Amino acid sequence: MKEEDQPIGIFDSGMGGLTIAKEIKRLLPNESLIYFGDSKHLPYGDKSKEVIIEYSGQITKFLLERESKAIVIACNTATSNALKEVKALAKEKNVPVYDVISPVAEKIAFTFNQNVGVIATKSTIASHIYKKSIRKLNRHIEVQELATPLLVPVIEEGFTNHTISDIVLKTYLNNKKLQDIDSLILGCTHYPIILNEVKHFYQNKIQVIDSPFIVASYIKQDLGRRKLLSYNSDPVYKFYVSDLTPTFAKLAKKFFGTNINLEVINIF
Ligand code: DGL
Repeated sequence: MKEEDQPIGIFDSGMGGLTIAKEIKRLLPNESLIYFGDSKHLPYGDKSKEVIIEYSGQITKFLLERESKAIVIACNTATSNALKEVKALAKEKNVPVYDVISPVAEKIAFTFNQNVGVIATKSTIASHIYKKSIRKLNRHIEVQELATPLLVPVIEEGFTNHTISDIVLKTYLNNKKLQDIDSLILGCTHYPIILNEVKHFYQNKIQVIDSPFIVASYIKQDLGRRKLLSYNSDPVYKFYVSDLTPTFAKLAKKFFGTNINLEVINIF
């Protein structure tokens, strides 16, 4: 198979990364995709760095064995903890690695935003990765970070556009850390599901960042630069998980937008 027609390998701790996969499919409809959701070990947000590095490394090896021409870490928590290790593994095969944080940090650093808020899992916030990445590029920008651990279970249990999501969001977004922000990054791949609720809370007063679009656009541009874009009219989509329950199947549909066939595979 020609290198450019090999699949893009994408992984996440579970189904959340499908919000990124969906946007990649929309912007790059000729690309074959291979997705791995580590549903057996979900959530990564509460795990130690060592464990996240171990799981991310195993998944990367699996995606490389399946001939991925690029790896997308579609998980903020895995990016915060294991980006260096995933890049080292992929480098051995000369495969580029994309993550969900660097393109967003770059975009923010070169806009007019002055005071940026970030909401994410405990682990992502504890790593200060957004703050570090943005301020490395533009030290004039203030970054306010807030861990919002209740949002993942609220989304997974389907309590969105609901009194529960409303109360949880209001409680978090009214936190005094976020009072003077001019833009907000949704730093978790689950959060695009509540994008409209967050926008509604702010009533257009601040900019709410659409991470999947920024990430997928970046990948498109970079694959083009590397002459790695596919023009295949018959792309193949493969979705693997490390554990399958009816809840995961339901979530996959919610995050990807259509019914997909999830295949269980034991790679650990
Ligand atoms: N997908 C993860 C992220 O983007 C959140 C879910 C988890 O904690 O595993 O950070």
